[in-house]
Amino acid sequence: MNTRYRKTIIAGNWKMNNTPSQTKTFVEELKASIGKVKFCEVVLCVPFVDITNAIKATRGSKISIAAQNMHYAESGAYTGEISAKMLVELGVKYVVLGHSERRQYFGETDKTVNLKTISALEAGLRPIVCIGESLEEREQGVVFETIRRQVKIALLNVSEDQVKKVVIAYEPIWAIGTGVTATSDQAQEVNASIREVLREMYGARTARAITIQYGGSMNAKNANELLSKPDIDGGLIGGASLKCEDFTAVVNGANQ
Ligand code: PGA
Repeated sequence: MNTRYRKTIIAGNWKMNNTPSQTKTFVEELKASIGKVKFCEVVLCVPFVDITNAIKATRGSKISIAAQNMHYAESGAYTGEISAKMLVELGVKYVVLGHSERRQYFGETDKTVNLKTISALEAGLRPIVCIGESLEEREQGVVFETIRRQVKIALLNVSEDQVKKVVIAYEPIWAIGTGVTATSDQAQEVNASIREVLREMYGARTARAITIQYGGSMNAKNANELLSKPDIDGGLIGGASLKCEDFTAVVNGANQ
């Protein structure tokens, strides 16, 4: 990453793992093992019910808490849903939006990601907007078209001031949970193309300041290589974030 312009953000995406009591134990262990975090930001994306314990346990540390989803409406008749305002009141700083699992299993679309992005920003949350092509899209040679569409629709009506708070996570679907990581060159190529779309939309200065993560089977072994690329500004880490030792190794690599 380019340390002159942006901070590396290492985010652990727990998905549907860890109960509230396990959350407390994990965070205590993590705080002790990562030591002083100076050169990167550490975020834990936890299930809704774990948020309170995660916030309590991270108090006084440099670890921030993210939700894994939210609804775009401020309030209303949406049984089972959670609004941005509710998350902010708990002390949540980030929210993951449009993760491929939500797109695949819960009907999330570019349009709903856009509505959620705007709602999160208006409430003061930093959205981590997930995009990425399927294996079929890669094999058919439409990676850049796919990425371009996802970025442009997710950021529709997002102002230049607001977009500075947005984090983009490039997660090729074929790399998520499969153990098949994109090569650092593949990830760099797409992340650079994302920045190019941002440059067209918001100008070079703003595009340069936006954090673009990579996600998809990132772990203690491949993280340093991925993070050494100029347009890879952090990671969204699933499986490897569930083990304190592995996640610590990624954080320590980025914290140098
Ligand atoms: P993975 O998940 O690291 O287990 O591939 C990444 C993600 O889904 O964010």
